Amino acid sequence: MASTFGTNVRVSIFGQSHAPAVGVVVDGLPAGFAPDWDGLRAFMRRRAPGQTLLSTQRTEADLFEVLSGISEGKLCGAPLCMVIKNTDTRGQDYAGLKNTPRPGHADWPAQVKYRGHQDAAGGGHFSGRLTAPLCLAGGLIIQLLAQQGIRVGAHIARIADVEDTPFDPMAPQLDDLQDGYLRVLDARTGERMAAAIDAARLALDSVGGVVECAVTGLPVGVGQPMFDGLENRIAQAIFAIPAVRGIAFGSGFGAAGLRGSQHNDEYALDDAGRVTTRTNRHGGVLGGLSTGMPLLFNAAFKPTASIFKPQRTVDLARGQEAELALKGRHDPCIVPRAVPVVEAVTALAVYDLYLDYVKEQAYGIE
Ligand SMILES: Cc1cc2nc3c(=O)[nH]c(=O)nc-3n(C[C@H](O)[C@H](O)[C@H](O)COP(=O)(O)O)c2cc1C
Repeated sequence: MASTFGTNVRVSIFGQSHAPAVGVVVDGLPAGFAPDWDGLRAFMRRRAPGQTLLSTQRTEADLFEVLSGISEGKLCGAPLCMVIKNTDTRGQDYAGLKNTPRPGHADWPAQVKYRGHQDAAGGGHFSGRLTAPLCLAGGLIIQLLAQQGIRVGAHIARIADVEDTPFDPMAPQLDDLQDGYLRVLDARTGERMAAAIDAARLALDSVGGVVECAVTGLPVGVGQPMFDGLENRIAQAIFAIPAVRGIAFGSGFGAAGLRGSQHNDEYALDDAGRVTTRTNRHGGVLGGLSTGMPLLFNAAFKPTASIFKPQRTVDLARGQEAELALKGRHDPCIVPRAVPVVEAVTALAVYDLYLDYVKEQAYGIE
């Protein structure tokens, strides 16, 4: 199912960018859990558009309404349905897009696949707007993981050519992340990133970047072999985020240039006598299974497709090449708003596999 993810906890996303609403239905959550709604609202604010000139000027408060799944303030076992009304829609900005597809966006393949019946306004179901309900589900699941001592945190590792301090692979600095629109470890880097985004905006252009994510507190053995490994499931969830171009765990592509003796993480015993590794180039996952070390990966985002610089396209109605002068409101850089989305979808994948692990532990008593 294209818009549904997960086996133990099933998350279904619905809505379009300029439809009346976007939302999510989450099935399989544990009854009795009392969500921290203020915490979820704060999480949603990190993704919300219109906060600064560095983001799209579409202003959406992303206030959500809970339609089902709650009784007396707690999850009650029924599917949890949460909805966010789209309040600042301007479908007319996209009137010509069916005939003149934007380079780099999903307009053209969607036009062919759905034979012109797709909702073209704001990219319809392909819009970054659909990441709001992903954050609703993921933000809640981050709370459930936290109850188990599992933390998920991400930062902007890079925008254009400006790089933040990377996470320490042995102990990611989740408590040192800066609040604010640019979530980085080093505030001065954030200022340089802001300048890079603004320069692209003023040039009617866009920039891309990289988000680094860490998950700490995972026990050993979360994940399944072959098709349902931690990497597989996280990658599947990460590629649900529009504009993602790649994902790399641990040392990633850098591993290809190393010798085994340089890349292997040797085992050791910690003070409590538990098996650990001396380094963490493997990024907390071997054979698709968590190793108990921090899980680490980088996700690459392309520069926003919708730019205001005139571009060449094809006028499908006239059957001739044309120039596209874009209207609408767009993020000159997607990366800052994508950081909570990366955390959210990572939580969906990790929690789903964690529930497998809990069942295995319950049944695996010898
Ligand atoms: C939070 C967020 C906001 C986005 N905002 C825009 C935008 O303003 N303009 C745009 O062209 N693309 C934006 N995108 C990306 C497009 O939705 C995406 O590039 C497009 O659907 C094509 O999908 P693909 O890039 O994964 O191939 C955004 C993505 C995210 C995650």
